[in-house]
Amino acid sequence: MADLDDIRDGSNFGLGQEVKKEGYYLKGMNNTDWGLKNRMSRIFNQESGRSVMLAFDHGFLMGATSGLERIDLNIAPIIEYADCIMGCRGMIRSSIPTTTTKPVCLRTDTGTTILTEMNHNVLISEEEAIRMNVSAMAAMLAIGDDATEALTIANFSRLVDIGNKYGIPVMGVTAVGKDMARDARYFGLASRVCAENGASIVKTYYTEGFEKVVASCPVPVVIAGGKKLPELEALELCYKAIQCGASGVDMGRNIFQSEAPIPMMKAVAGVVHNDLNPTDAFQLFNDEKAKG
Ligand code: 5RP
Repeated sequence: MADLDDIRDGSNFGLGQEVKKEGYYLKGMNNTDWGLKNRMSRIFNQESGRSVMLAFDHGFLMGATSGLERIDLNIAPIIEYADCIMGCRGMIRSSIPTTTTKPVCLRTDTGTTILTEMNHNVLISEEEAIRMNVSAMAAMLAIGDDATEALTIANFSRLVDIGNKYGIPVMGVTAVGKDMARDARYFGLASRVCAENGASIVKTYYTEGFEKVVASCPVPVVIAGGKKLPELEALELCYKAIQCGASGVDMGRNIFQSEAPIPMMKAVAGVVHNDLNPTDAFQLFNDEKAKG
């Protein structure tokens, strides 16, 4: 029961002061719900507006690929250097400590190992995503393949409906058919289709002309790293993407297959958050590596 004595009437109503209107810092998000924005704010650094997401979802298609044989040994120790972690529910549940406070972007679709690139029409349930306290959900949207394009778009759209219902951002993971050039035209098309279907984040690949991919996508774009490159080249890739307007990376192999994953994560973060050029970032990588 409320106290009846010593009731203090309010006196500090800020009369004459306008209620602050929030200008949200991430593009395309102004008209989204509080919960969705709050989750995005956990993923994207509020000073740089960018994110270093660590992807380790590869196993659902590729099995125990190099660097992901033991998520508990190879990934768990490095997540503290990422802004967000991206993986599949089984690996997160079994191998990532529940004590982590890193936001989780959960790989929500699944596929077969036969069609290695194209995923089908399976999504995990919203109850499962909420139970895992996710900050975002990711699913592939693949264009250019007769057999799968419609399925992945339907799947993706369904995930956006779920995400919007619960205020959970959805990240579209772009893929293009084997007959399509892996260029700005087609990654731009796939990115735009993700955004048109309600993605809050789009994950795609850096290509020449990337500034057009970013400009025509109204929500934050992050890049995958792709296959393992020498560290300097991977840092150049990040730098070029950031300079073209990318909002960060969702990078896997170029981090966990690096000879020094933590120094690499720090160097990538230098590029993403501090606009370090590739030479300085590579120097940072080497300095951190030398510390052992
Ligand atoms: C494409 C993916 C990959 O599994 C992965 O996240 C890509 O990361 P990288 O290319 O940096 O290793 O999302 O389905």
